[in-house]
Amino acid sequence: MSDVRFDDRVVIITGAGNGLGKSHALEFAKRGAKVVVNDLGGSAHGEGASKNSADLVVDEIIAAGGEAVASYNSVTDGEKIVQTAIDNFGRIDIVVNNAGILRDKSFSKMTDADWNLVYQVHVEGAYKVTHAAWPHMKENNYGRIIFTASAAGIYGNFGQANYSMAKLGLYSLGQTLSIEGKKNNICVNSIAPIAGSRMTETILPPALIEQLKPEYVTPLVIKLCDENNTDTGSLFEVGAGWIGKLRWERSKGHGFNITNGFNAEDVNEHWETINNFTDADHPSNTQEAMMAVMSNLGNK
Ligand SMILES: NC(=O)c1ccc[n+]([C@@H]2O[C@H](COP(=O)([O-])OP(=O)(O)OC[C@H]3O[C@@H](n4cnc5c(N)ncnc54)[C@H](O)[C@@H]3O)[C@@H](O)[C@H]2O)c1
Repeated sequence: MSDVRFDDRVVIITGAGNGLGKSHALEFAKRGAKVVVNDLGGSAHGEGASKNSADLVVDEIIAAGGEAVASYNSVTDGEKIVQTAIDNFGRIDIVVNNAGILRDKSFSKMTDADWNLVYQVHVEGAYKVTHAAWPHMKENNYGRIIFTASAAGIYGNFGQANYSMAKLGLYSLGQTLSIEGKKNNICVNSIAPIAGSRMTETILPPALIEQLKPEYVTPLVIKLCDENNTDTGSLFEVGAGWIGKLRWERSKGHGFNITNGFNAEDVNEHWETINNFTDADHPSNTQEAMMAVMSNLGNK
């Protein structure tokens, strides 16, 4: 197979000053992309701002012979980040929504500020950047978009109500965009990574942080952003050199006779069947999912 190249492609990577975003930025540049290295340069909890982290990554790319420009805006000013791409490189082909912060607290201690800031950076930020890039992609009949979800969003995690809400929200945003983008060759996928970074250094032991290299996540992002990639609307868990795909699974369920009516006791009686995943379905779109439900209207 030929090498994955991004010559003449322009990529925006948000939160590219550190961790995963930095790893993605360096690899895209190595493969010929013109990179907008976006980073607000604040703390892992969303405080402050600095040009330093984006500048260092841009310097590293340029020193290696690549092309890159820094963008210091918050993702909540997504249109300015996209404008940076247009002003410097004239187009936008790929958006990797990666910027993120944490405000971990148990739900009872969570403040509105913790909830809102996490929502703003992850969800509103990814929306703003992607929404500003979308018309350019439609016009070019080409686009590749990545949303960075999280296992915390898929499975939940103590102390991360705000973060898990935001992370699975990104996945569902990506699901709808994958449908809307199909006719314009815009592929939209989500990843739930695990990597050693400043974000995980307070949760994971140092030895593990050292081993879980962000570079083990980047190859999947590169593959999904390749122009030959046709995968869209997918969600992958990725980390430690392992990659797997997720999908929805739904039990066969039980259809009640709607002429006779049914009550909570009837639901109790069939609870085991409702919860039984033997021969489960894997609906991949709303139509498929609705069909099994609606067919019970004939159960009279
Ligand atoms: N590291 C993991 O194990 C892990 C697991 C699941 C999800 N993620 C997600 O991966 C992404 C990258 O995380 P990381 O581990 O590399 O963390 P990181 O803290 O190393 O990098 C995140 C970057 O985003 C930047 N950023 C924060 N707010 C911003 C804003 N408003 N505008 C622009 N940039 C902003 C930060 O300055 C930082 O450089 C995040 O979305 C995170 O939620 C990471």
